[in-house]
Amino acid sequence: MSTQPDTTPPGAIAVYDERQAGILRLEAFGLVAVSIAVLGLVIFAFLLSKGLASAFTYRAEHTYNYAGIQMTDINAYIQAKKVQIQPISAEALTAYNEWASKNPKTVNVQVLNQYLGDDYNNTGTIFNYMAVYVSGGLGVSCEYCHNLQNFAAYDLPQKTTAKNMLVMQFEVNNKWVNNVPRPEGQPLYQIQCATCHVGAPKNWNKTLKASNPAAFGIEGGGLPYGYEMVDEQLLKTRPDPQTGEVNYYKVTATKDTPAGLDATYRNQNQMYHQTVALGVGCDFCHYGGYFASYYVENGSFKWPKAQARHMIGMVQDLAINWWPQMQFPAPETVAQPNCYMCHRGYVVPPGASNTAPQPAQVSSPLIKPLEELPLPKPITP
Ligand code: HEC
Ligand code: HEC
Ligand code: HEC
Ligand code: HEC
Repeated sequence: MSTQPDTTPPGAIAVYDERQAGILRLEAFGLVAVSIAVLGLVIFAFLLSKGLASAFTYRAEHTYNYAGIQMTDINAYIQAKKVQIQPISAEALTAYNEWASKNPKTVNVQVLNQYLGDDYNNTGTIFNYMAVYVSGGLGVSCEYCHNLQNFAAYDLPQKTTAKNMLVMQFEVNNKWVNNVPRPEGQPLYQIQCATCHVGAPKNWNKTLKASNPAAFGIEGGGLPYGYEMVDEQLLKTRPDPQTGEVNYYKVTATKDTPAGLDATYRNQNQMYHQTVALGVGCDFCHYGGYFASYYVENGSFKWPKAQARHMIGMVQDLAINWWPQMQFPAPETVAQPNCYMCHRGYVVPPGASNTAPQPAQVSSPLIKPLEELPLPKPITP
């Protein structure tokens, strides 16, 4: 995008008039002159100490770009965070081999075959998926979910939750992630078990949150809401019964914003949360000249802001529709989702995948949304 389309609202891009520009230039001049002189000396000393060639190999670029350069390998992340991964146990492998020799075709598989095709009616294909994505993503052995005497049974509550999570994963990818507005050529990463679980089955609950707020992207700062986004206001969002229009949670100050500082703090917290969650500055998403704009001064489109707007809707959908029907083993202990749950300080979530098998567009009759939250119109240039 080099030219700015006509759809940009008037005032969306800051324009300085000649007088302002003149004042800025004059004031800046003295400062610049002094700075250049000082900088020149510093650079000269630096070049002397380093040698000319090496001094110019460093370019002060951002460590991320729209193609997701700011990434970390999931294994490196898990190691750095010292997450304890349980290996698949010898008992489980023996039990599985016995089961597979008796049941080369699956007995009670309901989700994977429906989404990923008939190959998933073979026990061997299911095993591969279980070992890599399910056991691998949660860092647990098979018996965390399975009665080793009968892999088809739902004896343990964890297996029921896992089944619902499989549906959620495919549906959320289908509805939200696959529709993230993105520039041509940007690779698409999707959600899998590891995206939220990053190697631990219980990774996002109130106990952990109380003991380690930083693990939730919640830093102190003394602000009333502590960088959180799911609260009553966000959960209240429902389609208007008359128009069907969804009042998606908005981080904007308009004439309807109630008087007082509450809404302002809340909006600030949401923004700080997003910077912490993605490990970026405000300028990753915003043009500093005018925060409401989706464009930069030169007319180029701020894709990350459009992507973040879309993701706010996704977090709402997770909190309103999916959390209540996951049949968590201990629902009252589970914490609400936020950006950090997946992003963990990176632009591309460390646990996101662009290799896990994904279905074509389908929807499951197994789980229906509690509230049909239609996809908002994506903001694109
Ligand atoms: C986090 C929970 C979880 C873990 C861990 C897990 N599974 Fe599963 N497993 C499931 C769920 C849920 C299904 C049903 C999938 C479906 O319906 O599509 C399933 C299905 C299966 C089936 C098919 C059973 C049938 O009905 O025919 C086999 C076999 C199986 N798992 C083996 C394993 C093995 C081996 C491991 C360890 C490497 C393992 N699973 C780890 C949750 C789990
Ligand atoms: C359930 C997991 C999950 C949650 C929660 C989540 N994201 Fe994401 N996000 C993803 C995945 C997966 C991608 C990669 C999609 C892609 O390839 O662009 C992504 C991509 C993005 C991108 C584009 C990054 C790029 O590739 O340049 C932005 C910006 C973003 N998310 C912002 C947010 C914000 C803001 C929130 C909170 C409101 C949030 N996300 C919550 C999973 C999540
Ligand atoms: C959008 C985020 C998200 C995704 C994707 C996700 N989960 Fe979960 N899952 C959670 C949260 C949050 C909890 C509650 C964790 C806690 O209690 O600390 C949870 C809990 C669970 C539990 C119950 C653990 C327990 O002992 O209480 C199981 C089992 C589970 N998930 C399996 C899976 C499987 C299998 C997948 C992949 C198909 C998956 N999850 C994908 C967010 C997710
Ligand atoms: C990951 C992307 C992202 C980051 C980082 C981010 N923002 Fe935002 N910001 C958004 C999005 C998206 C909206 C629009 C939200 C909406 O429509 O509800 C927004 C809205 C705003 C608004 C309201 C603008 C209006 O339309 O009235 C302000 C002010 C703002 N952000 C300030 C900040 C500040 C300050 C920071 C740094 C602390 C920051 N933002 C960091 C994505 C981001």
